[in-house]
Amino acid sequence: MQFNTETATRLEVLAANSHCGARVRLAFVNDHKAAQTRDAFCPKIVFDVLPHTVYDLSYEGCTESFAYLYCPQTVLQEGIRVLSPAIETTANPYREQFHLTPPTGWLNDPNGLCFFGGLYHLYYQFYPHTQAWGNMHWGHAVSENLVDWRDMPVFLTPQQSLLEDSTLAGGAFSGSAVVMQDGIRFYLTRHSAPRDRECEMVETQVMLHSATGLEAGRETVILERTNPRHSYHFRDPKVFLHEDVWYMVLGSCIDGVPAVLLYTSQDGIAWHENGEVITVTQSGCESVECPDLFTLGDRAVCVAAHMNRTDASGRKNPVHYTVGRFAQGHFSAEHEGLYDFGGNFYAVQSFWDGTRRIAIGWVADFYAEHRCHPRGVYGSMTLPRVLSLQDGVLYQRPAPETETLKEDLLYSGAGDSVQLQVPGNAYCAQLECLPDMRCELLLARDGADTLRLICDQHGVRLLSTRVPQAVFSAPCGVVTSLQIFFDRRVAEIFINDGQVAGTKTFYCESTDGVFALAAQSPACIKALHVWSMRAIRG
Ligand code: FRU
Repeated sequence: MQFNTETATRLEVLAANSHCGARVRLAFVNDHKAAQTRDAFCPKIVFDVLPHTVYDLSYEGCTESFAYLYCPQTVLQEGIRVLSPAIETTANPYREQFHLTPPTGWLNDPNGLCFFGGLYHLYYQFYPHTQAWGNMHWGHAVSENLVDWRDMPVFLTPQQSLLEDSTLAGGAFSGSAVVMQDGIRFYLTRHSAPRDRECEMVETQVMLHSATGLEAGRETVILERTNPRHSYHFRDPKVFLHEDVWYMVLGSCIDGVPAVLLYTSQDGIAWHENGEVITVTQSGCESVECPDLFTLGDRAVCVAAHMNRTDASGRKNPVHYTVGRFAQGHFSAEHEGLYDFGGNFYAVQSFWDGTRRIAIGWVADFYAEHRCHPRGVYGSMTLPRVLSLQDGVLYQRPAPETETLKEDLLYSGAGDSVQLQVPGNAYCAQLECLPDMRCELLLARDGADTLRLICDQHGVRLLSTRVPQAVFSAPCGVVTSLQIFFDRRVAEIFINDGQVAGTKTFYCESTDGVFALAAQSPACIKALHVWSMRAIRG
């Protein structure tokens, strides 16, 4: 592949299918003697390159996958320039327009969310080579406003030992960030397991420092599983400082019961076991994953993702929160709730940005609906949600910055039934209503399949004909407002100004979307507005 570096001075290459002896060669187009050849049997190869120079990049014993250029001094402002895969030339109806997606490949959990150096940093579980889970890297994106993101160089790569022994799987698993005086401190799990014997997995918590958020320092092991009462699932450290004490929550089990484990530390380096914050009482859950613990006013909220559990409504892997009081390392529970009613939401992480607590979750394909577009990607992040508590309920409101995504007003009215075509299939609909409102909303249609939201005497529920076994009912009581974001293959719904939120995927073959409202009680609909939404990538 030939390319001109323009202003870039660094090239990073993540080659696929590499084996021992694989090579990547970078040559000047006009002078093949001066080529640099590198061992490609590693997760990432870094080249220093000259600006405004034409190079030729070739692969031997491995294949082209993900490669990008950047300038280390300006990358935070300018982002990376992706060389491969080549930029999409054909329209891809599945790719979200205003939800964050990876530059290529696969994305899962948000990691290391923080506000540092005037920018929001979002790291994430990333596999660059296919639209399927693979040995985990940390991808990275930054934003000034939480909605427009710029891709950054890959932050962490999987262990070399996983490349050398293909019977093993693992990598840099999920974790969190703490902003320090001199940079960011990261905590995460290093995971390694035989592919056919998961129960032999080894999960180790490590810590590392980064002065800029771009380059990862050396990793130090801070915690290994020593208590035989804990299960081999022992991961996803979320670390925070509270009243001068460091706390870490981990997802695991205690004596076979899924639990959020608590550890404490004086310095964030030496950790002591401090029991469980909560245990999961519902049956069928294998382990807690991606726990979170944070304060909101005089209360604390503990969050647990229920691995491999399906609830009575057919909702897979639900995330639950428990509100309570947290003092001197002790949590007393008061109220439990469902974090998101939609069925495609997982691994949510929150952070404090200096003025508010923001949460971002992973839009996960739990009903095997993903369709592989040749230039497509798997996975996206939810919109940023601002958290608050009202009467023991965790309210989630789309961050006000999402308002800047609205483009054209497609409809404005009251009381009528509506049928709209939505060019681009990315819209936001807002409805204000009186308590007795009954209606059916069509959020998306693909052939004979539909995604609908029904409000009637039985409450509110989201129904996808593609997931007939599940009823995604919203635990919200009387409805006074609905805010619906639809983005190509993701619906995010907020009811009663954030009282409940629901995330559901629905793949459409066309970029011409629909939105329809059939009102059974027109007089109860005070106002309906529908906007088209802009794309966050150029
Ligand atoms: C949750 C999870 C985490 C783990 C990561 C691996 O989706 O399984 O528990 O750290 O994904 O990609």
